[in-house]
Amino acid sequence: MRIIGDTDLSVFELCLGTNPFGWTASEQESFDVLDAYVAAGGNFIDTADSYSVWADGHVGGESETVIGHWLAARRCRDELVIATKIGSLGGLSAENVRARVDDCLQRLGIDQIDLLYAHRDDPDAELEETVRAFDEVVKAGKARYLAISNYEPDRLEEAIAITEREGLAKFVALQPHYNLLERSYEQTRAGLVKRYGLACVPYFALAKGFLTGKYRPGQAGVSERGRLDGSSYADDRGWRALAAVDEVAAAHGTTDSAVALAWLLAQPTVVAPISSARTTDQLAEQLPMLTLELSDAELERLAVATA
Ligand SMILES: NC(=O)c1ccc[n+]([C@@H]2O[C@H](COP(=O)([O-])OP(=O)(O)OC[C@H]3O[C@@H](n4cnc5c(N)ncnc54)[C@H](OP(=O)(O)O)[C@@H]3O)[C@@H](O)[C@H]2O)c1
Repeated sequence: MRIIGDTDLSVFELCLGTNPFGWTASEQESFDVLDAYVAAGGNFIDTADSYSVWADGHVGGESETVIGHWLAARRCRDELVIATKIGSLGGLSAENVRARVDDCLQRLGIDQIDLLYAHRDDPDAELEETVRAFDEVVKAGKARYLAISNYEPDRLEEAIAITEREGLAKFVALQPHYNLLERSYEQTRAGLVKRYGLACVPYFALAKGFLTGKYRPGQAGVSERGRLDGSSYADDRGWRALAAVDEVAAAHGTTDSAVALAWLLAQPTVVAPISSARTTDQLAEQLPMLTLELSDAELERLAVATA
C-alpha cells in the first residue's frame, strides 16, 4: 500500500480506472471486475461524473451509477478509497461545483468522496472561485481531500498558491497523462509534484490498451473504445516500445501489461498508476505488476526504447 501525500489515505498500488463501466463493460462485467479487484486487495477506485458522456446516447454518470449499485450490493464502502472528478460537465464555477458534487454523491450512494478532482481547467471560471468552491466542499464534509488533473503547470501552481495564500484546503494529488509512451510529465510536472508534495496518480497507464500488447502490426479492430483506443500508437515508435516491453515480459514470464504498469509504479513521484479493465481476464493480466521487480537495467531499457 502507498500513502497519498501527507493524508491518511492508504491506497493499493494499482488504482482501478472505471471508464469502461456502463460503456464497454456491462453492469455485470463491471461488478465482476470490481469484485476481482477487491479480492486481490484493491481499494482505490477512480471515476468521474463525465464517464461515459462520449458514448452514443450517454449523458455522463454511467460509471458512477454502476459503482453506486455495486457499493450498495457489496456494502464495502468503508474499505475503499473512492476518487471522482468534476469539471468536464459544465465547468468549474462555484455553482456547478456544488451541483456536480451532489450529483456524484447521489449516483455513488455515499456521503463523502475520499478524493475529489478538478478534472480539467475551466478558463471561463475564476480560478479563485473554483478553489474556494472546492474548499467549501471539504468544509461541508462532502469530500475528504482534493486533487487536480490536466491543468497546465502554471495554472496548477496558481491554484496551489491560492490555497496557500488563503488558507484553503490543499490539493494532495495530481492525475496526469503519463505512461511509457507519454513522457512529457517528467519535464513539465514531476518537479512541481515533488516541490508541493503531491501524489502522482497517472492515467492512461496502458496507453489506452496499446501497452497490453494486443495491438500488433497489420491487425485492426482490437478495441471498441473508438477515439479512446490505442491505435494512435501503432507506428514505428510504438512497435519499438512494444518490442522492449515484450522482451522484458518474456524475461520475467509475465505480461506486457504488468511490465508497463510496474515501470510506471517505479518512477519517482508515482504513487499508483490508473488502468482500467473491461473483463476480469484483463485485470488478471495487470495484477502481476504488484510483485514484478524490474532491475535498474530493465527500467532504463524501457525508458530508452520509448523516449
Ligand atoms: N484525468 C483524466 O482526464 C483521465 C483521462 C482518461 C482516463 N482517466 C482514468 O484513467 C483510467 C485508465 O485510462 P483508460 O481506461 O482510458 O486507459 P488504459 O488504462 O490505458 O487502457 C485500458 C483499456 O485497455 C484495454 N485493456 C486493459 N487491459 C487489457 C489486457 N490485459 N488485454 C487487452 N486489453 C486490455 C481495455 O480496453 P478494450 O478491451 O475495450 O480495448 C481497457 O479498458 C480510466 O478508466 C479513468 O479512470 C482519467
